[in-house]
Amino acid sequence: MFYRQVSEYRQKNIYNEPIGRIKGAMPNTILVGTQWGDEGKGKIIDVLSRQADIIVRFQGGNNAGHTIVVKGEKFILHLIPSGILHKDKVCVIGNGVVVDPQVLLEEIESLEKRNIEINSNLKISDQAHLIFPYHKIIDKLRESKKATLKIGTTGRGIGPCYADKVNRTGIRLIDLLDKDVFRKKLKTALVEKNEIFRKIYRHEGFSFEEIYEKYLSYARRIKKYAFDCTSFLNAEIKKGKDILFEGAQGTSLDVDFGTYPYVTSSNTTAGGACIGSGISPVDIDKIIGVAKAYTTRVGKGPFPTQFPQGLMEEIRHKGGEFGATTGRPRRCGWFDAVVVRRSITVNHLAALAITKLDVLDGLKKIKICTGYKYNGKIYRDFPASIKVLENSQVVYEEHSGWLKPTSSVTHFKDLPVNARRYIKRLEELLETKVSMVSVGSEREQIIKI
Ligand code: GDP
Ligand code: IMO
Ligand code: MG
Repeated sequence: MFYRQVSEYRQKNIYNEPIGRIKGAMPNTILVGTQWGDEGKGKIIDVLSRQADIIVRFQGGNNAGHTIVVKGEKFILHLIPSGILHKDKVCVIGNGVVVDPQVLLEEIESLEKRNIEINSNLKISDQAHLIFPYHKIIDKLRESKKATLKIGTTGRGIGPCYADKVNRTGIRLIDLLDKDVFRKKLKTALVEKNEIFRKIYRHEGFSFEEIYEKYLSYARRIKKYAFDCTSFLNAEIKKGKDILFEGAQGTSLDVDFGTYPYVTSSNTTAGGACIGSGISPVDIDKIIGVAKAYTTRVGKGPFPTQFPQGLMEEIRHKGGEFGATTGRPRRCGWFDAVVVRRSITVNHLAALAITKLDVLDGLKKIKICTGYKYNGKIYRDFPASIKVLENSQVVYEEHSGWLKPTSSVTHFKDLPVNARRYIKRLEELLETKVSMVSVGSEREQIIKI
């Protein structure tokens, strides 16, 4: 009965409720990246976590690097949800995430060393697939000099692990927790893997005993976090608890909707949240997107609005645009409204958080991409063809910059007039409300509109 009431209340209020509408509670919300990742999702999740009860990662793995800065102290989270810095919140790693147990344990340890408590506030789905050493090695071999198709992956074994999952040869946390099942599955996997490694990659292959013993030692330490997260989350929803789903990567890296094959191997879009956690779509109330005030991309693949070299260096240094996971320099470019419009469509975004507005403070002129021109045709919708993306001319509109610092502004009305115009123009072009503007990496540097 209570569940029905909560559910009906939520559905009535879909898309038009300000965050924090009832006694500090928020509707079940999915947050996704709208570009090619690194939009500042970690920061926005941290800001929103205060109002949520449970924060859930639902896809990706430790290819993600989500940064949170609290009073000058920087935290980079790869697997553990960005809500972990708030006491009394439950953080869930859903079934859709691929988990490298070694990385997970290191992350837990490093947070504990910084006095962040991790015990029953962390739950990991026992259906999550595990990353093994052979996934990481094959990921790197495929990206090596000899390879013909290079994606520029993070080399964390993400793609090969998801491939095993779909191929039905993966090993889940629940399998690891049963010695006999694990022995059988690992043996079977290695028979095939070692043949492939030796014959195709001229790699010596992997010893069963070594991986078996190592992973059993991980199992002993991870066991206490393993959970039937789907039952847990659905029961919490029935109690009226509020869930915040933390997307990793971004819409243009989605395996279906991104710049394929230059994408990651999971569904980074809102639909992935249900698949990757076991929640029904009817229990989702709101979807919000995060977009940088400009665009960045790390790894290979088309990037139509990429800056020329000089401006790229300038913005990269101002924005600290180096990968939070690999340290690689990120490519930078103008805001691409075609990319973000696509994301708004695919995710049905109710609102956008625009981050890193402060990075544009010193620019005299600021451009926004409104379309692509290819073979005389203007594309306003994101084309699926890589050939079109790589060879099209970008249609820009140009705006005057504001040439004033914004990083200590806390109210929208106090932003320089041209900064307000820029945000308003984005809203117009995207037909979507901007509900937050971030002007610095610190928790407090946020303007709520
Ligand atoms: P995520 O993967 O989407 O969580 O983003 P990353 O953490 O990889 O990259 C975003 C970077 O920008 C991090 O270093 C953040 O600390 C930083 N950041 C986030 N919001 C802002 C902002 O509004 N201004 C500035 N200057 N930096 C920001
Ligand atoms: P967050 O969550 C930016 C990119 C890689 C590469 C492609 C495939 O921090 O936004 P993978 O290792 O996933 O197979 O690499 O995806 N990539 C990211 N780029 N931010 C991320 O995560 C990324 N995770 C993967 O650079 O181009
Ligand atoms: Mg990142």
